[in-house]
Amino acid sequence: AGTLGAAAAQQGRYFGTAVANNRLAETDYVNVLNTEFNSVTPENEMKWDALEPSRGSFNFTNADKIVNHAKARNMQVRGHTLVWHSQLPSWVGSLGADELRKAMTTHITEVMTHWKGQIAAWDVVNEAFQDGTSGARRNSPFQDKLGAGYIEEAFRIARSVDPAAKLCYNDYNTDGINAKSTAVYNMVKDFKARGVPIDCVGFQGHFNSNSPVTADFQQNLERFAALGVDIQITELDIEGSGSEQAANYEKVVKGCLAVSRCTGITVWGVTDKYSWRSSGTPLLFDGNYQKKPAYTAVLDVL
Ligand code: XIL
Repeated sequence: AGTLGAAAAQQGRYFGTAVANNRLAETDYVNVLNTEFNSVTPENEMKWDALEPSRGSFNFTNADKIVNHAKARNMQVRGHTLVWHSQLPSWVGSLGADELRKAMTTHITEVMTHWKGQIAAWDVVNEAFQDGTSGARRNSPFQDKLGAGYIEEAFRIARSVDPAAKLCYNDYNTDGINAKSTAVYNMVKDFKARGVPIDCVGFQGHFNSNSPVTADFQQNLERFAALGVDIQITELDIEGSGSEQAANYEKVVKGCLAVSRCTGITVWGVTDKYSWRSSGTPLLFDGNYQKKPAYTAVLDVL
């Protein structure tokens, strides 16, 4: 197959990209999006600050545009993200425990109800663990006021609202075997043992010289898959250029394909022009929407 999405589909998988609503007016952007990808993740439009900027007042307009674009073209949608410490409006952080618990319940319920049946997978909780060697939870209003149980509370609410959506935990610097990924692994293992509803683990896949694609990438995916969850690479981008960048992309895609429960890959943007890493060139299409060596390497191994 001649496109990323079609090639992945032949492997029973999807190949997706993050999409920014304000780029959907650009012809080249939309052409590459529609040609190459069969899954989308709204890059910012489904975050708490975008959807519920003030308590109880929801604005789905921008995210709806992306969802409707995707649905009209038979693309899947990944929902990103329900509970996260970042891009969280300040009103959430100022609530006491009881009101925060109500607000979290309301947010998950309203958002998932709005798109019920239309989201393939939700990142229910994003980035709940600290970097470094402690394996500890990250401080956040949720962690600090609701306690460690907030994650399973969020997953249970999510399951009750849209039982058809796959429910994922998503994080970064968890791609290889390290203290942080092991902490996530232990949480997922515990959830599976106790029947907390979790279906998938998202590995963001933001790689650079400080956090390279390590040799144990595939092995790490395998240990999670062995817990009985699906695996998704959810925000892939790799700093660098040329053949070195291409080789790293190849490693990641091969690692996913080697694990039967790795169901799809999403790159974090269509083009280097709009990467969130403003100084870098981490994606598959350059700033002029030309295919990079990394693109060819990915298509070749799919
Ligand atoms: C980033 C977006 O790409 C930026 O546009 C925004 O300014 C900040 O967030 N981990 C995540 C994503 O889960 O939501 C982040 O997206 C990148 C890191």
